[in-house]
This record gives sequence, C-alpha cells and structure tokens, in this order.
Amino acid sequence: MRVLVTGGAGYIGSHTLLELMAQGHEVCVLDNYSNATPEVLNRVRSLSNGTVTDFTGDVRDPAMLDEVMQNFRPDAVIHFAGLKAVGESEEKPLVYYDVNVGGTLALLHAMDRVNCRKIIFSSSATVYGEPVYLPYDEAHPTAPMSVYGQSKLMAENILTNWAKATPDASSVLLRYFNPVGAHHSSRIGEDPKDIPNNLMPFIAQVAVGKRDALTVFGDDYDTPDGTGLRDYIHVVDLARAHVAALNYAENATGARPFNIGTGQSYSVRDMVAAFERACGHTIPTKLAPRRAGDIAAMQADATRASQELGWNAEHGLDDMTASTWAWQSANPNGYDS
Ligand code: NAD
Ligand code: UD1
Repeated sequence: MRVLVTGGAGYIGSHTLLELMAQGHEVCVLDNYSNATPEVLNRVRSLSNGTVTDFTGDVRDPAMLDEVMQNFRPDAVIHFAGLKAVGESEEKPLVYYDVNVGGTLALLHAMDRVNCRKIIFSSSATVYGEPVYLPYDEAHPTAPMSVYGQSKLMAENILTNWAKATPDASSVLLRYFNPVGAHHSSRIGEDPKDIPNNLMPFIAQVAVGKRDALTVFGDDYDTPDGTGLRDYIHVVDLARAHVAALNYAENATGARPFNIGTGQSYSVRDMVAAFERACGHTIPTKLAPRRAGDIAAMQADATRASQELGWNAEHGLDDMTASTWAWQSANPNGYDS
C-alpha cells in the first residue's frame, strides 16, 4: 500500500517506516521537525535502501496536506504527529488540543478530499486513567487524568464518528503502553530534546554519564517493591503492530481500539536492574516523593490485538534494555552525535 506517515521522523514513526518498507509498502512522511531532525530519515533510507518521500510541514495546514495528498495519493495514513509530554500539556492545554485534536481533524478533512479511507492512530493507554481493574482491556472505562490524555480521547472520538459516517472507512486506534528500546542497528532510537520525562531514556542517560542519578518517584506504592509497575513494549514490536493494523484496516470498516502492550509489567527497580545487566555497571538512584499524576500500576490485556490483528509482542525485557543501551552508547548525544 501507499502509506502516508505523519510524524514519521519521530521515535515510533521512524521504526515503523522500516517495518513498512520491509513488508513492501511505499512510504511518505509529513513532519514539521518540532521534535525530530531530518537526519532520522537519512538513516532510515540508508538502513532500508529504499525510497522515503518526505514533506516538511504541519499536519494542521490544509494547503500542505492537499499538496501531500495530491502528490502521494495515499491508500492509508498512519498518524503519529502530535505532542506527548504530559506535564507540558497541563501548562499549554490549547497548544495540545490544537495539535492533537486540530491536527487529526485537518488530516481527516484532507483525506476526505482524496477519498482516502483508512487511518491508524497513535493513541495511548493513558486514555484509561486510574484503573478500575487490571489488566486493562479495551472495554475498561476511559477517564484520562491529563490534558494530553483528554486530547487523545477526543481524537479517538472524532476518528470513531468519522469511520461510522464514512462508507468503507476504517479507524484503527492503537493504545500504546510504554514504548522503549531501539532498532537492532543502533542507528535509530529515542532522542529526547530536553531532560527526559520517561523512565527508560532517563536511565540510559545516567548509564552513559550524561546525568548523575535516576530519581525514583516513590517507593510506597502498593506493588511488590513499592515502585510503579508499567507494561513496557519494544518499539520494534510496536512498529510491527502498525503493519498488522494496516493489513486489518484494508478489509475493515468502522473504528476499533486495540491495546498494544506485552501483558507483563515491570517495576522501576526491575528496569534499573535489567539496565545494569545490559550496560555492565551500576545505575545510581535516589529516592523522591511520588510524581504528581502517576498511578501505581498499568498492564495491558492485549488479547484483542493477538486475535484480530494477528500481532504478538516478541521482544522481552533484556532486548528492550540491551537495544536502548546499544543505541545510547553508540549515539551519546542522540542524532547530534
Ligand atoms: P515523537 O515526538 O518522537 O514523534 C512525533 C513526531 O511528530 C515528531 O517527529 C514531530 O516532529 C512530529 N510533529 C509534532 N507535531 C507536528 C505537527 N503539528 N505537524 C507535523 N509533525 C508534527 O513521539 P513518539 O514517541 O514517536 O510518539 C508518536 C505518537 O505516539 C504521538 O502521537 C504520541 O502522542 C503517541 N504515543 C507515544 C507514546 C510514547 O511513550 N512515546 C505513548 C503513547 C502514545
Ligand atoms: C508517562 C505519562 C503517560 C504517557 C507515557 C508515555 C505521566 C504522568 N504519564 O507514563 O501519560 O502515556 O508516559 O510513555 O507523565 N519514573 C521514575 N523516575 C523517572 C521517570 C519515571 O521513577 O525519572 C517512574 C514513574 O513514576 C513510573 C515509571 O517510572 O512509575 C514509568 O514512568 P514513565 O516512563 O514516565 O511512563 P508513565 O508514567 O507510565
């Protein structure tokens, strides 16, 4: 298929481009580089030996979208472009709604203008909010606790209404758990611009000597070792879930959410221990109070993705930490290395 990938120069998008090309799909990227660098696409091209058409522009810009649609004529769109920092979303709610909700609306309008009917959307497990039960299945109530989570849920609702009202349309809503890891080549990976918000890139920067110690946010949760439990998913497994979703969308109509996680959860202490095994030295830690807005535990029931998409996670914890370490140590300053 001809697949337009918005936000394709980002962390998950870049890994997905490689998996799409490996399966024979043609790809085109639209990215405004607000959280990426064009160097990413150079590396994707050299790793794949393939063609990546790219447009620099904003997903909220109708004229830009029309240019992309007219030139590339996609059969389907994978929509990664968006903002993802929870703390920042509380400080800049209008920016988050504008990009995450407004961007999705503008994209659907542009798709309608060229009769493109298939979309895969980057949603998040954060749409569930405080667990009523675990593991979360897709029927779990949605009650996001941040502006970021609200913006993802609003976009899901718009995509659901669009798919219902549009003949032959399919919206596949992928609710990611915690993506970590890097491509086995160590040429692409996660490269946060500022101080990392998330656990794994922070540990990686401590391991490589860029930061002194990991701050553990709370060890008084009701979990076996008192630290937060999360369902970490290798980014290559996540990328492959998009290829599976694309195959599904080809013959599907309507909207359907899917959890994309492994169904296993690990604590902060588990992650530190696994990273120490990968890098071969101690990761210094210090304890601090709980981070505002954090919950004790999250875990996916990914049965639906297995049964309906034919997708299963293949990489375990040691693959996640080893590939992160390989990427971080080969590129201590990310794409600026
Ligand atoms: P990322 O920031 O690396 O990638 C997003 C890409 O979109 C970047 O290349 C950025 O430059 C681009 N972009 C942002 N705003 C844009 C705009 N207005 N127009 C065009 N391009 C724009 O993030 P990621 O981790 O790869 O996440 C991709 C998607 O997955 C996001 O929508 C994010 O909310 C969602 N998601 C991420 C996680 C995670 O932990 N990484 C978890 C759940 C969901
Ligand atoms: C965070 C977001 C969530 C988003 C997800 C994307 C918050 C409150 N939640 O989730 O909405 O979908 O990222 O992956 O920001 N931790 C530390 N020290 C650190 C960083 C994290 O102890 O420096 C702990 C956290 O308290 C948590 C675990 O590590 O228990 C994972 O944290 P993180 O990687 O930020 O992911 P989430 O909190 O699950």
